[in-house]
Amino acid sequence: MHRADRLPQPTVRFLRWASAAELDLVGTAARLDAPARQRLDASPESAARRFLFGRALLVRTVAETIGTDPERIEVTAVCPDCGLAHGRPRVRTGGRTIHVSLSHTADASAVAVSIEHPVGVDVERLDAARFAGVEDVALTPAERERWQRLPDRRRLRALAERWTAKEAVTKALGTGLTTDPATIDLGQDAAPHVTETAGHRFVIDHPEPAPGFVVTTALLLP
Ligand SMILES: CC(C)(COP(=O)(O)OP(=O)(O)OC[C@H]1O[C@@H](n2cnc3c(N)ncnc32)[C@H](O)[C@@H]1OP(=O)(O)O)[C@@H](O)C(=O)NCCC(=O)NCCS
Repeated sequence: MHRADRLPQPTVRFLRWASAAELDLVGTAARLDAPARQRLDASPESAARRFLFGRALLVRTVAETIGTDPERIEVTAVCPDCGLAHGRPRVRTGGRTIHVSLSHTADASAVAVSIEHPVGVDVERLDAARFAGVEDVALTPAERERWQRLPDRRRLRALAERWTAKEAVTKALGTGLTTDPATIDLGQDAAPHVTETAGHRFVIDHPEPAPGFVVTTALLLP
């Protein structure tokens, strides 16, 4: 049995896009590498804004977590499928790798940073329409059965927590949703907790950043 207070946890930051003025978007844009710059320039305005917001939040969170200057943080992302500058972000600073993950939802983004463990994060707005039918594609049969026994008032959050935990696990693995979420069995409900799934052990947690949102992190244990 693992005591929650002894489990490793990432640094998590959640920020609404309306708070973009808190971030150094200009400095972040100036420090993008050539492939990321190309991605920014080729994206429609809303996608470009979201990308830059996420990148700026990521850099700021890494800088705060390890106590370094944002200018010393190098972020790259190369899609293993198409070679373009999207996919899992990789962060290096002072000759070492820092584990990071990033997620966007309706009007907010979340970042998780871990010095020691690969990490995944997912954020979703608690929106019933968004989660309609997700139980059919994302839950294992046992999870679905447990979920269906829940009272109505608890179902949306429970499903959102399951979904975001599964997506966070696939991000910590670096596979994304090429791993079928319905093959990931997360076991018990309470968080933070350690779960063994997809051949690895993860610490799953649901920090509560703001009413109406669910944020879930998955730390990949050795
Ligand atoms: C990872 C994935 C589940 C994210 O889905 P999404 O709907 O974009 O959801 P989120 O907003 O929560 O996450 C986006 C972030 O995930 C991160 N990400 C993308 N691919 C990732 C991967 N393989 N592993 C970990 N993180 C990944 C990026 O940081 C991205 O944000 P950014 O583009 O602004 O940097 C999805 O992109 C996926 O399944 N990717 C793998 C398969 C794929 O699409 N390959 C591309 C073929 S060209």
